[in-house]
Amino acid sequence: MNFESFKKLVESTRSIRRFDESRRIGRDTLENLVELTRFCASGRNAQPLRYVLIDSEEECEQIFPLLKWAGYFKEWDGPEKGERPVAYLVQCIDTKYGADCLCDDGLQLEAITLGMTTLGLGGCIIKAFDHINLSKVLNLDKRYSPRYVLAIGYPVEKVVIEEMNGEENADFKYFRTPDGVHHVPKRPLKELILK
Ligand SMILES: Cc1cc2nc3c(=O)[nH]c(=O)nc-3n(C[C@H](O)[C@H](O)[C@H](O)COP(=O)(O)O)c2cc1C
Repeated sequence: MNFESFKKLVESTRSIRRFDESRRIGRDTLENLVELTRFCASGRNAQPLRYVLIDSEEECEQIFPLLKWAGYFKEWDGPEKGERPVAYLVQCIDTKYGADCLCDDGLQLEAITLGMTTLGLGGCIIKAFDHINLSKVLNLDKRYSPRYVLAIGYPVEKVVIEEMNGEENADFKYFRTPDGVHHVPKRPLKELILK
């Protein structure tokens, strides 16, 4: 892979919140995605993160109501039936190694979501979820604390990047147009470089 194709992969790995619920994903695919995390950098090389793999319809139905979707969309409660995720990865920290994992969580989520794009999958990293009930539903030992839920499926929504204008107070809120397209503003390169 060259730099340009890697850049395209990163650019096309967008948060997806609507899926084709008729297309299921097998556990083997979820395992392949989690395997990517083995090769990620890890603070102190402690590798404290673990995953719960969810692919059954029944478990997906239990998890969905515990998630908060697209905080800026006040009128939208998340994807309708038929467009909901068909799988989840619940990233947990093994607190035996401490309550903090530095940036291991983000690095691993990026590896997984990039991998998903190569497989034609899309997903959304979710931090706003009901921690207590998720642990209950998953029957998680207290030792494991959920950090993120990654919702996964085959995308049915189009997401486009909008170049922000680089002004100090430019709006960074994502928005959806009447045609259903999701627009995600990104800051221009010149704004990211201080010197
Ligand atoms: C740490 C983190 C937490 C997030 N939590 C949520 C969430 O709880 N619910 C949600 O719908 N999206 C969540 N997102 C997705 C962001 O809204 C999304 O990344 C952002 O709008 C930019 O879109 P993009 O991922 O396509 O670049 C989260 C993303 C990150 C990185």
